Amino acid sequence: MSSAELYHRALELLPGGVNSPVRAMRSIGREPIFVARGEGPELIDVEGNRYVDWVMSWGPLIAGHGHPEVVAAVTAAAAAGTSFGAPTEAEVALAAEVVERVPSAEMVRMTSSGTEAAMSVIRLARAATGRDRIVKFAGAYHGYVDGLLAEAGSGLATAGIPASPGVTAAQAADTAVIPWGVLPEAEFAAILCEPYPANMGLVRPPDGFLAALRERADATGALLVFDEVISGFRVAPGGVQEREGVVPDLTMLGKVIGGGLPAAAYAGRRELMELVAPAGDVYQAGTLSGNPLATAAGLATLRLLDEAAYARLDELSELLAAGLEGAARQAGIPVRVARTTGLLTPFFSERPVRDYEDAKACDTEHYAAFCRAMLERGVYLPPSQFEAWFPSIAHGEAHVEHTLAAARAALEAL
Ligand SMILES: Cc1ncc(COP(=O)(O)O)c(C=O)c1O
Repeated sequence: MSSAELYHRALELLPGGVNSPVRAMRSIGREPIFVARGEGPELIDVEGNRYVDWVMSWGPLIAGHGHPEVVAAVTAAAAAGTSFGAPTEAEVALAAEVVERVPSAEMVRMTSSGTEAAMSVIRLARAATGRDRIVKFAGAYHGYVDGLLAEAGSGLATAGIPASPGVTAAQAADTAVIPWGVLPEAEFAAILCEPYPANMGLVRPPDGFLAALRERADATGALLVFDEVISGFRVAPGGVQEREGVVPDLTMLGKVIGGGLPAAAYAGRRELMELVAPAGDVYQAGTLSGNPLATAAGLATLRLLDEAAYARLDELSELLAAGLEGAARQAGIPVRVARTTGLLTPFFSERPVRDYEDAKACDTEHYAAFCRAMLERGVYLPPSQFEAWFPSIAHGEAHVEHTLAAARAALEAL
């Protein structure tokens, strides 16, 4: 079946034809592409068309599609049993890798998704502080947790949904939302942030802001929680906290930690993490938590990420970002490219994007037209202005060149 046929069949069976909203490509005004397989940095659709993939499953595939070492690790794990609901040696090995890399992590609890990690970390922060209210930043996405959907970025921003129906007034009232770059005033259980927000597109923090958040958390008795589901193991081995030298109390991890299989985690100081059951009485559990296949994929992926891998990821991201900026300048289209190691967003904007209001002011029509034109030229981009692109260590200079040639043509056509 073609993508079009599959989509029309899917519309009968899945809400909006998809299992996660942004995939539907509605915001760029076209139908989704159904994927047959991935090879390194490329996607191949059901019609056999090839695309350079800058989505990479939204972040987990930092080693590319089907990396032989990841596939071998998962295959070996599957042959030994796909799930036990009992502890395994690999979980201990993965926790040790996390503790070694991530400065705030002394202990780790695995979950199956970033959303579960967010839910759990908030419960833990509430239990530890005896407070109910938390504060988050506009444009940040922490999964689809009831209390965290207000002014969330990512798919909600893409669909223009300010807050989801179905969230109770009480849940919404327990979350304060403030603009990125503003220090919270009141006393909260947790100050929750993406330290490099990447769900309104990539937005770097103002100078000194993360350190100021650390100080504010200490002064008000709140726990500082970094959601490093995207940035963890990507912008540096230990994430933003290593790169910026600001250590949170608790950290959420996801995406890369599962190497393309469902895994996520939360981690932090021993005395906090030991509040979690069965060490303590903050309850949290999961049938597939620490699943052997996901654990094997995560371990194999982390072991590929040596110093050379980060140097390469950084170089590639910069090459792509600078090239996109150059192409836009040549075409006379105002584009600002935010970038860091392994993440970038070209904002169709005259001015720098510092927060959610700036991101929402971007020319999303232009982004959509650009995105459609890039697909026609064999480049698969996040179908939303409010997402980051995800370079991987499988991408090479040839993929950047192909992308930039397509971008020059697509931007000229705008
Ligand atoms: C920063 C951040 N936190 C949490 C999540 C939720 O993770 P999951 O989709 O695995 O539930 C995401 C997902 O994109 C994310 O980007």
